[in-house]
Amino acid sequence: MAELNGKNLVLGVTGGIAAYKAAELARLFVKDGAKVVAVLTESGARFVTPATFQALTGNPAWTDLWDARMPDNMAHIDLTRGADAIMVAPASADFLAKLAHGLADDLLSTLCLARDCPLIVAPAMNRQMWENPATQRNVKRLVEDGVIVLGPDSGEQACGETGMGRMLEAAGLFEEVVAFFQPKRLAGRRVLITAGPTFEALDPVRGLTNLSSGKMGFALARAAAEAGASVTLVAGPVAQPTPRGVSRIDVVSALEMHAAVMRQVADCDIFIGVAAVADYRPARPVADKIKKEDKPMEITIEPNPDILAEVAARPQPPFCVGFAAENRDLEKYAEGKRQKKKLPLVIGNLVQDGLGGDSNTVALLDDRGRHQLAPAPKLEVARAIIGHIAQMTGARGK
Ligand code: C5P
Repeated sequence: MAELNGKNLVLGVTGGIAAYKAAELARLFVKDGAKVVAVLTESGARFVTPATFQALTGNPAWTDLWDARMPDNMAHIDLTRGADAIMVAPASADFLAKLAHGLADDLLSTLCLARDCPLIVAPAMNRQMWENPATQRNVKRLVEDGVIVLGPDSGEQACGETGMGRMLEAAGLFEEVVAFFQPKRLAGRRVLITAGPTFEALDPVRGLTNLSSGKMGFALARAAAEAGASVTLVAGPVAQPTPRGVSRIDVVSALEMHAAVMRQVADCDIFIGVAAVADYRPARPVADKIKKEDKPMEITIEPNPDILAEVAARPQPPFCVGFAAENRDLEKYAEGKRQKKKLPLVIGNLVQDGLGGDSNTVALLDDRGRHQLAPAPKLEVARAIIGHIAQMTGARGK
């Protein structure tokens, strides 16, 4: 999506087996439009060579404070001039200790000390090194100093042990860096989102549901979290990974979704109902599987509560956003829903444009009229919707 277009990144690589993941990270940054300059510590260069990073980034890779290629011998300053961030991945226990104490005895640590840009580190080490109180103290100090610490993860380690200390995967780090650069337009806001379908059981193996992949709701949760909000996502049965930093509550039926939302709603500033909630549920679900008979069957269904309408009708409602998926007359139906449910904002889309796919074409309907967005990947659409919500709720951007 070229989200890092125009960004200048210094990628620091210290000594750890996870250095091989840094090569993939460099590739992801470059592919997404960033200019990347790699700086390796001496031990980092023992795991992956500077030539690898030079080839992947198209820029010289640096290791030496006294490198004669820098005409004024100011590599420790020049390499971060104009940088948007330094990302150290992997960051070894030793390197974190150096950073925490302001030591500068090689090119990378000197660049970090002399920087005028954000510093992001991705720790990677053996689990006992990570758990050591000295490392924990150093990480705490770095966080207090404003350094962004991503990970580590828990799992199998190259040394054969299992525990905390694995570096996050390159794709996860890439996503975090993209999120880091998003404007924090909803900082301090609490956002509650419903997503996916609901499933209304008829018997243990059958039920009523709606077609919904959950992709749009999950993209909105991610975009809201990227914008600095604290996000709770109430998700129906979908196979979507939880966006980083989002707290997720899984539900199955509309009644469960309703209960989960009602438990959370008093603590939210913004409520976005993206879920395709089943309008009806079987009145009498049965415990045993219904046997096939050669005659028509009657099933009585009863209406489910309208979660969004109920939230919007609270005495002090959060800022409520609804979705309207229609197959024709989009503006008429979507605006009708907005009026009926008394919502400040409705996002309308034609089902043929968005259902199940990775991109969507939506129109935003509010008191000022219709704002059509161009067709785009769902995450891009979600970011635009979050920007619009931030504007409408008067949240200040960074
Ligand atoms: O009325 P309709 O179902 O088309 O409205 C769609 C909007 O209302 C969506 O935002 C959806 O999440 C929400 N909704 C809800 N509870 C329902 C039905 C719809 O929250 N029972």
